[in-house]
Amino acid sequence: MVGQIFRFGAASTAASENRETDLSLADGTDAVILVGGKGTRLRPLTLSAPKPMLPTAGLPFLQHLLSRIKAAGIKHVVLGTSFKAEVFEEYFGDGSGLGLEIDYVMEDEPLGTGGGIRNVLPKLRGDTVLVFNGDVLGGTDPLAVLRTHREKNADVTMHLVRVGDPRAFGCVPTDEEGRVTAFLEKTQDPPTDQINAGCYVFSREMVEQIPADRPVSVEREVFPKLLTDGAKVYGHVDAAYWRDMGTPEDFVRGSADLVRGIAPSPALNGQSGEFLVHEGAGVAPGALLMGGTVVGRGAEIGAGARVDGAVVFDGAKVDAGAVVERSIIGFGVHVGPRALVRDAVIGDGAQIGARCELVGGARVWPGVIIPDGGLRFSTDV
Ligand code: GDD
Ligand code: MG
Repeated sequence: MVGQIFRFGAASTAASENRETDLSLADGTDAVILVGGKGTRLRPLTLSAPKPMLPTAGLPFLQHLLSRIKAAGIKHVVLGTSFKAEVFEEYFGDGSGLGLEIDYVMEDEPLGTGGGIRNVLPKLRGDTVLVFNGDVLGGTDPLAVLRTHREKNADVTMHLVRVGDPRAFGCVPTDEEGRVTAFLEKTQDPPTDQINAGCYVFSREMVEQIPADRPVSVEREVFPKLLTDGAKVYGHVDAAYWRDMGTPEDFVRGSADLVRGIAPSPALNGQSGEFLVHEGAGVAPGALLMGGTVVGRGAEIGAGARVDGAVVFDGAKVDAGAVVERSIIGFGVHVGPRALVRDAVIGDGAQIGARCELVGGARVWPGVIIPDGGLRFSTDV
C-alpha cells in the first residue's frame, strides 16, 4: 500500500521547481532505477530494509523519486533489484497506485551498477533509457536532462552537479561544449568539483553494448570505455537541489529538507512545515518538534522532549525530557527519560536507558538494551 502524508506543523509553501513543459520528450523513454545496493553506510537500519525503502518525510525514499519521474510524464519504470528485492514489489506492486507501470528485475547475485542496467534490457519498451541511482534526492526535472541529450545528439548524457568534496563521488570534467572528457570514480585527487549526480540518459543501443551476465560497474568500466572508444558522452550541469542519501548525516538532512520544502518532492503535494507528525502518533504538551523532524505512525514523544532535525520511525517512543538531534530512531525504539541522542543511528527495537548519552556517530544495533545511565560522556548525573 502506498503511504499517505498526515499533518505538517507550521505550514509553508514548498520550494518551486524548475519544471520543463515539453512532456513529449518523455515519449519512448523508460526509467530504470538501480536499487540493488546493500546500503552498508546506513547500517544497522539497512539490515532490515533496503535503503530506498527507508522512510523519509514519511514515505519510502523511493516514492519521492517515483513521483518525480511521474511528474515528468514517464509512465514505465523498471526497478533493478537485488538486496531485499521482494520488499519493493510488496509495497509498490504494479505501480498503478502511483499512476505508473512498474516492472521488477531481480539479480540473484548483485551485477553492479552497469550489470544492473544491462540486466533490465528485456523489459525496456522505448529507444531511450533514463537511469537513476535509487538513493539520490534531487530537484532536477528529468526532462531537462533528456532535452540536453536530444540537443547534443548524444550516446549518453549524465546529470552533473558541483559539490564541496568530490572525493566520495564520480568526478566528471567536461570541455567548453559540455562533452565529458574523463570519468574518475572516487578519486583522491579530483581535477574538478563537478560530479556524477547519478542520473543518465542512455540510448538503447548503448545499453545493449554493456556486457551481459557478469558484474559490471557503470562508473569504473562502462563510462571509461565509452570515453576511450570516442562515444558522444555529454554532461547536463545544473544547480538544483541534490543529495546522495547514503550516509546517516545525509539521510537526516535530506529528510528534514523534504519536510521543510527545501528539497522539492511532488509526492508531498507542495506541503511543508517545520515538522511532520503522522497519523496515530502522540506528542505530549510541552514537547518541542523542530528542524524538519518527522514523527512516524504510532510513535510517542513525551512532555518536554526536544526532537530537532530527526527521523523517528513508526512506533518509536521518546520519553519526557529526552533530547534527540540529527538522528535516526528506528522502528519501535525506546529512548528513555532525559537521554541525549545526537548524530546517532538507533537500530530497530533498541532501548536506550534514562540519562544515557549517544553522540557523534554512535550506531546502536537492533534490539540492544542499554540500561539507565549506562552510557555517558560526562560524570555529572
Ligand atoms: N541493481 C543493482 N545492482 N543496483 C546496485 C548495485 C547492484 O549490484 N550496486 C549498487 N546499486 C545501486 C544502489 O542501490 C544505489 O541506488 C546506486 O546503485 C548507487 O550505488 P551507491 O552504493 O549509492 O553508490 P555511491 O553513492 O557510492 O556512488 C554512486 O553515486 C554517486 C552519486 O550519488 C556513483 O554513481 C558515483 O559516481 C556518483 O557520484
Ligand atoms: Mg549513493
